[in-house]
Amino acid sequence: MNAVEELLVAFRDYLLSRSDPTLGHFIQGFAWSMAERSLAPHDLPVAAYLRKPRRLGNGAERVLFDKLADAADMLHWAQTYSITDFGSDFLQRYGWVELFGARGHFASEEMAGGFLLLGPEVHYPDHHHTAEEIYIPQTDGSLWSKDAQPFLPRWSGEIIHHPSNIRHAMRTEDEPLVALYLWRGGSLAQKSIISGRMQ
Ligand SMILES: [Fe+2]
Repeated sequence: MNAVEELLVAFRDYLLSRSDPTLGHFIQGFAWSMAERSLAPHDLPVAAYLRKPRRLGNGAERVLFDKLADAADMLHWAQTYSITDFGSDFLQRYGWVELFGARGHFASEEMAGGFLLLGPEVHYPDHHHTAEEIYIPQTDGSLWSKDAQPFLPRWSGEIIHHPSNIRHAMRTEDEPLVALYLWRGGSLAQKSIISGRMQ
């Protein structure tokens, strides 16, 4: 198995080890055996945060984080936004990888999943999309807002559910954010709509 295949196995095993009912419903019946695409590695500045040692404890999130770090150089890191959306600072500290989905390293039209990275001191403004989404931060202390409510700190392993079209935003302070995401329903490749702005 190559490092990307090992990451998919770790991703699946991590989710199946969790007993949260919302997550269980979200992934119920998903076919984890997917065809691998030959996707060229694509590096981004934000991926550098995976190469620095982190204080992540010894839990299940640590196991998954290590597999992500091992595969980081083989992954196709991407960005949805351009410089006109949130500026160049944001693009230096933002990126994601689709491990599986309509475009990812493994092919699925049913559900997409991967990781979002944000560097320190980033504000990812309010946005929404048709797809329903689950985020599980793998790092501590990022701040999350849902449905225009105040930002709240979230911790490694917390399950954050965004129903279809609900507004949400994230912020980081001193520490970067690494978050697992799952996305299903709606277009698996839709660009998020930035709240309050015409696209
Ligand atoms: Fe989202």
